[in-house]
Amino acid sequence: MNKVLVSLLLTLGITGFAHAAGNAEAGQGKVVVCGACHAADGNSAAPNFPKLAGQGERYLLKQLKDIKSGARPIVEMTGLLDNLSDQDMADIAAFYVSQQMSVGAADPKLVEAGQALFRGGKLDEGMPACIGCHAPDGSGLAAAGFPKLAGQHATYVAKQLTDFREGNRTNDGESMIMRAIAAKLSNKDIEALSSYIQGLH
Ligand code: HEC
Ligand code: HEC
Repeated sequence: MNKVLVSLLLTLGITGFAHAAGNAEAGQGKVVVCGACHAADGNSAAPNFPKLAGQGERYLLKQLKDIKSGARPIVEMTGLLDNLSDQDMADIAAFYVSQQMSVGAADPKLVEAGQALFRGGKLDEGMPACIGCHAPDGSGLAAAGFPKLAGQHATYVAKQLTDFREGNRTNDGESMIMRAIAAKLSNKDIEALSSYIQGLH
């Protein structure tokens, strides 16, 4: 790990994590409405709806709170979380964690470029490799709130990277980790990375 990464990890307070006491069984009963877009088990069929199955608990809970508060605006989810308590959201997160994310396929023409960026970053431009936080197999680092990426829909991933770059997704916090990284990515880079991620397992 390089120095930049270590200091980022420290800023994020990786050590201070306490588990949200979510109950997966209770959560299952609270995600019925979510299934219309994210599917009953969290492996959404439509490529613009993110898969939630197997995603890290800390990351999921943070996103739910941010979507509810409006820090991460999602038009499709307007009002859906308004009546959920922190306990409801912890239960929902626990339910999705208990499911397994399905794997997709990468475009063979993009694998080499995607893999080079994912594993090597753009060190000459000061952009760290994705694996430093999201792990070589894309499984993320759940305890730190670094999301799992492996198997996620390429269409969704590409939209997130573009949103981070264009300032349309700003809930990566004051340290602006993902906005700083996405600023170094061209449209071609994003296409290659997203395809690679979709096929990663
Ligand atoms: C009408 C469709 C729709 C419904 C219903 C819906 N969502 Fe979503 N959800 C979306 C879309 C679209 C996004 C991603 C938006 C974007 O591009 O940033 C999303 C994103 C999310 C994310 C962030 C995932 C990530 O990887 O960052 C979570 C968590 C989530 N939804 C949970 C839920 C839960 C829990 C429910 C039910 C209470 C729900 N959603 C209902 C469409 C929906
Ligand atoms: C220093 C750590 C770090 C590095 C390096 C990093 N990420 Fe991230 N990434 C994060 C964090 C933290 C988040 C969650 C932000 C939040 O809480 O909203 C994230 C979120 C994401 C998301 C959104 C996931 C979702 O479900 O919505 C994508 C996509 C992503 N990163 C891709 C990448 C790619 C591709 C690279 C390499 C070019 C990369 N990341 C490098 C820490 C990192």
